Amino acid sequence: MIDFTLDYHAHILPNCDHGSNSLQVSLKQLEMAGAAGVHTIIATSHFYPDKESAGSFLSRREDSYQQLLPHLGEGLPEVKLGAEVLICSGLDRLDGLERLCRQGTNELLLEMPFYDWPEDLWETLYSLQEREDIQVVLAHVDRYPPDYIDQLAEDGFCLQLNAEGVCSRRKRKKCIQWAKAGYVRYLGSDIHMLGNQYKQWVKAKNVLTKKCGEE
Ligand SMILES: [Fe+2]
Repeated sequence: MIDFTLDYHAHILPNCDHGSNSLQVSLKQLEMAGAAGVHTIIATSHFYPDKESAGSFLSRREDSYQQLLPHLGEGLPEVKLGAEVLICSGLDRLDGLERLCRQGTNELLLEMPFYDWPEDLWETLYSLQEREDIQVVLAHVDRYPPDYIDQLAEDGFCLQLNAEGVCSRRKRKKCIQWAKAGYVRYLGSDIHMLGNQYKQWVKAKNVLTKKCGEE
């Protein structure tokens, strides 16, 4: 069952990526998350392996988290650290990749490209799955060709859905099907700036609870 108090995918660290451009925006995002019933948020700032090293990213992420930290508490959701890692050819061999996993776990939130996936990325994806120290979680699977995701789910990959996908009339049916089959491990808001993602969160929670609860 999906835990609707855990937002597994969110861009809420101030000035770490394009998800928040100030401390004020980050705090407002956290307030909105709390109002939507979220108790824990994983801050999954974008990591682009062609742009920087894991070490450089982790140091930037820590600086950003330290700006936010003194303001946490007082009814705001708890913030844990993670990353949204964009795949590249050979990512399975990247130095320090395991350090990008969600804090305290071996789960790596992996983003696939929004163009057709070349064969070498499929190879990298399956090589990542073979690593015993990493459990891949595929980010926002509602944004990719459903037949790719069907195959990956059957092959044992964990799926993360965005609330937005569940709210989309075009995508909803497939999202529910994956959730009912038990393939969806996590829901994410994928909040960027002050978007409407937490309104979608509440709607997605209601839809999934109703549809999956019927089974
Ligand atoms: Fe994201």
